[in-house]
Amino acid sequence: MRRPFVAGNWKMNTDSHTGVILAEAIASAVLEFAGRSVDVAVIPPFIYLQVVARALGASHIALGAQDVYIESKGAFTGEISASMLKDVGCAYVLCGHSERRHVIGEPDELVNKKVMAAISGGLLPILCVGELLAEREASRTNEVVTRQIKNGLAGLSVEKVSAVTMAYEPVWAIGTGLMATPQQAQEVHALIRGLLVEMYDGQLADGIRILYGGSVKPGNAEDLMHQRDINGLLVGGASLNADDFTAVIQAAV
Ligand code: PGA
Repeated sequence: MRRPFVAGNWKMNTDSHTGVILAEAIASAVLEFAGRSVDVAVIPPFIYLQVVARALGASHIALGAQDVYIESKGAFTGEISASMLKDVGCAYVLCGHSERRHVIGEPDELVNKKVMAAISGGLLPILCVGELLAEREASRTNEVVTRQIKNGLAGLSVEKVSAVTMAYEPVWAIGTGLMATPQQAQEVHALIRGLLVEMYDGQLADGIRILYGGSVKPGNAEDLMHQRDINGLLVGGASLNADDFTAVIQAAV
């Protein structure tokens, strides 16, 4: 059974005070079902991971990081390794978020190395994929998503890939208020599931959770979650408001 999974990506928002208040509010609001009927994670900026971990306390809300470096330690100024993230309590890490791909310029090959480094360091990667608006308009969505998945998971054994959560986030729907319709999202989720069957096997593909992300809000979460291959939600803007994030989590239960 795949338990639904809702993760809140705080991006470069909050501070040491507001991050703690947000984490505490979410923790008390979802105490009854987090970690039981739904898996929940919050993904704050690196420097607030530890204070947020303390604020989450025994709430069963998992902690995630927004990025990870490909090496385990050494002279890599400014970077953070998987073992460091694990050390401060992270369970998950985003790999290949669209802002890392399109604002920072990370190519598929680097994303693949990050997925590998995350798994080697004991973290659960959330591999994000998704097409640009121009790519969708040119009917290239399937081609782009297929490439990102094949390259992102290159070299991963069946055992390793079972640690991965997938996230489909059409770039044109992120932070724009535009949203893929549940049907548009389902089409790409089904494509992703099919690719996992082709690359691995049906049983493994069935067990992997595929999250949808891109302008998820309390008002659209339920319809998205009704789709066959949507197993959870990756939430940006709405995860910065405890009431909205809680409502999204409730819609996924
Ligand atoms: P959004 O961001 O919900 O603000 O569109 C989603 C994401 O980038 O993960």
